[in-house]
Amino acid sequence: MEIKNVKGTHDIFGEETKIYDFLIDVFSHLCQRYGASHIIIPTIEHTELFQRGVGEGSDVVRKEMYTFEDKGGRLITLRPEFTAGIVRSFIQNKFYANDLPCRLFYHGSVFRYERPQQGRYRQFNQLGVEFLGSDNFLVDVETISLAFSFLKELGLDKNIVVKINSLGDLETRNRYRQALKDYFAQYLPDMCEDCQSRYELNPLRILDCKVDADRVYIEKAPSISTFLSPQSAQRFNDIIEALKQLEIPFEIDHTLVRGLDYYSEIVYEIHIKNANEGAIGAGGHYSTLIEELGGPKMSGVGFSFGLERLLSLFASKSDLASKVVESKIDIYVMPVGEGVHSQALKIAQYLRENNISADIYLEKTKLGNMFKKAQKRNAKFALIVGEDEIKNQTVQLKNLSTSEQKEVKLSDILKTLKE
Ligand code: HAM
Repeated sequence: MEIKNVKGTHDIFGEETKIYDFLIDVFSHLCQRYGASHIIIPTIEHTELFQRGVGEGSDVVRKEMYTFEDKGGRLITLRPEFTAGIVRSFIQNKFYANDLPCRLFYHGSVFRYERPQQGRYRQFNQLGVEFLGSDNFLVDVETISLAFSFLKELGLDKNIVVKINSLGDLETRNRYRQALKDYFAQYLPDMCEDCQSRYELNPLRILDCKVDADRVYIEKAPSISTFLSPQSAQRFNDIIEALKQLEIPFEIDHTLVRGLDYYSEIVYEIHIKNANEGAIGAGGHYSTLIEELGGPKMSGVGFSFGLERLLSLFASKSDLASKVVESKIDIYVMPVGEGVHSQALKIAQYLRENNISADIYLEKTKLGNMFKKAQKRNAKFALIVGEDEIKNQTVQLKNLSTSEQKEVKLSDILKTLKE
């Protein structure tokens, strides 16, 4: 029987892989311009890291982790997100003893046992940043600016909306949690099962419920904005002013609460305008996570994009996709005749060694077929290597957009191509 992929996973190949690589390339270069360095952390961590880091009250830890006991009896989890692992590494490798904030970026697979549906997988990929070790509100702003610049470079900035909210400090959240419990108590028997369990575990998450019948109650719930401590309100205002200065468009959404327990102060999500699908990226500030995981009392802030959700945007916008997929190769090498193939291969190797992308037709066929192939590969030039050319140490070079063709000495190829 044929073996299929595991439910909720998927293969990425062909043009999609080109866009995937392109996204990572654009993101990595941008992060480097922001002074961030690449960090690669293990896919597996001790389960306790996520229990303590992401929080026992979150859906991710309660229902969605891929957890197993290894042969040594350790409880291990496939990472359901990056932030906790990055913070673990920050503490373990004492990055906090260096220049702060420590700016890190990452990409890779994450695993969540969710119900698979459009844009929702059990193994998916994230790319993101964590800026650690500073409580300055401008560091929060910098991460939003980085996320926005990324979308701008991709030409997506006009299609998106950045939603922001403040969850305030611990005291704010405790007071707000109680206010929500008082308010929802009267409606709870009529609300969905998820809301009923969230009521005890994390009443803020009730605000996230998508069930239409529950929205009626949620819309009239008290707003966190009236519970913010003076310091948290000031911090949120400062961030708003800085975003305006940087001309980053945003919307304040006081129902935005996020599903992971480590956040405090600002949280944000990036959505596609007028689309009901989930966020393409999300993040926020965490002031106690580093300390809770055994590190010094320091804050961090970061975000992650879902790569598959970005990929699907490219798939639905052919102009975006063609920008990436149209990556041309420089030369299509065409061996014509007997005994020329190994020489042609040598020329292709020489070109590649000199940073010129070259493809070569290795089967024996008519020249016309080779031109068709070169067109398909979007080659800029055809380089024809025939028996006479080999004797004379020359090649025929044809510009495939102007159809101009000329004979070039083998020793002059690089010079001619540069011209
Ligand atoms: P998150 O909201 O759980 O945040 O995930 C971030 C992004 O990953 C989402 O906005 C979405 O694009 C994508 N995503 C989440 N679940 C799935 C899924 N099942 N299938 C496909 N894509 C998905 C975090 O993971 C935080 N660690 C973000 C962060 C970084 N906060 C601070 N630093």
